[in-house]
Amino acid sequence: MTSAFSLAGKVAIVTGGASGIGLSTVRAFLEAGAKGVTLVDLNKGNLSKAQAELEKQYPGRTLAVAGDVATEDATKEYIEETLKKWGHLDVSIQNAGISGPTAGITEMTTQQFESVMNINVKSAFLGLKHSVKAMLQNKNPERRGSIVLCSSQLGLDGSPFHSAYAASKFAVRGLAVSVAGELGQQGIRVNAVCPGAIETPLTDEFYKEPGSREACEAKTMMARLGKPDEIANAFLYLASDASSYATGTTLSECTFLDWAQACNRDDADQFELFAEVDGGYSKWS
Ligand code: NAI
Repeated sequence: MTSAFSLAGKVAIVTGGASGIGLSTVRAFLEAGAKGVTLVDLNKGNLSKAQAELEKQYPGRTLAVAGDVATEDATKEYIEETLKKWGHLDVSIQNAGISGPTAGITEMTTQQFESVMNINVKSAFLGLKHSVKAMLQNKNPERRGSIVLCSSQLGLDGSPFHSAYAASKFAVRGLAVSVAGELGQQGIRVNAVCPGAIETPLTDEFYKEPGSREACEAKTMMARLGKPDEIANAFLYLASDASSYATGTTLSECTFLDWAQACNRDDADQFELFAEVDGGYSKWS
């Protein structure tokens, strides 16, 4: 019997697929039997390195497309390239994102705010729009496709000094639940995942700072950080038929105690540390 979590015969796209959660998701999909996975990323070096590694283990089953997912041209290109190579699209994971500035509302520049909204929200809008157009060509009217957007714990709770990022991740959930309502009867499901604090190549840098890792772990119910694979499995659940009756939902993969309360103003030292490490603007871009 085929597992409900199998992606056998399915074609998927993962944006931000060259690093962290995205790369783990690509691996999870290939392990689950996906016919092909397109990795999309702005970072050409990481992208070709990731694809070269994956091709050794899963020959002929990956495609790498470099581009800025906040632009319509790049979005159309990664969809068209996927259709050209495999003929159909079944799963679209809109995972690429940046964290934005660590700054109070009076210090944050309009340009910083716009940049976060542009990359985190506009990319999800474009990814949704063009993935849906491709999926509507699929024949099975009940199961045309699954689209999953990457939100965040901060998109549930907010976060002092990270208002641009938190607002962008609230918006991502808003897109998912709204568009799910438009497409349910056409066999396309749309959901969102909200990761908590996950160790990715970039956040590793932050957690290397003395005290920062322990401070973050202490705010979680499990007293530890999450691993990219643990989020990849959440994406796999929502991508596969295991979640065939789930749409418009948010899967919260985080164990934070109340983050907004935990990060009250007494935590200012920690935020200053964050700003010191990333220069006030994360290198997630
Ligand atoms: P990461 O930095 O390891 O991976 C993000 C990837 O997205 C990078 O390869 C980057 O080059 C790519 N990317 C960024 N902007 C892009 C653009 N405009 N066009 C194309 N590619 C672009 O980060 P991570 O941690 O794997 O993050 C993935 C997603 O998970 C993001 O949406 C992030 O907001 C979200 N998230 C991460 C958390 C964490 O603790 N690591 C917690 C909650 C949410």
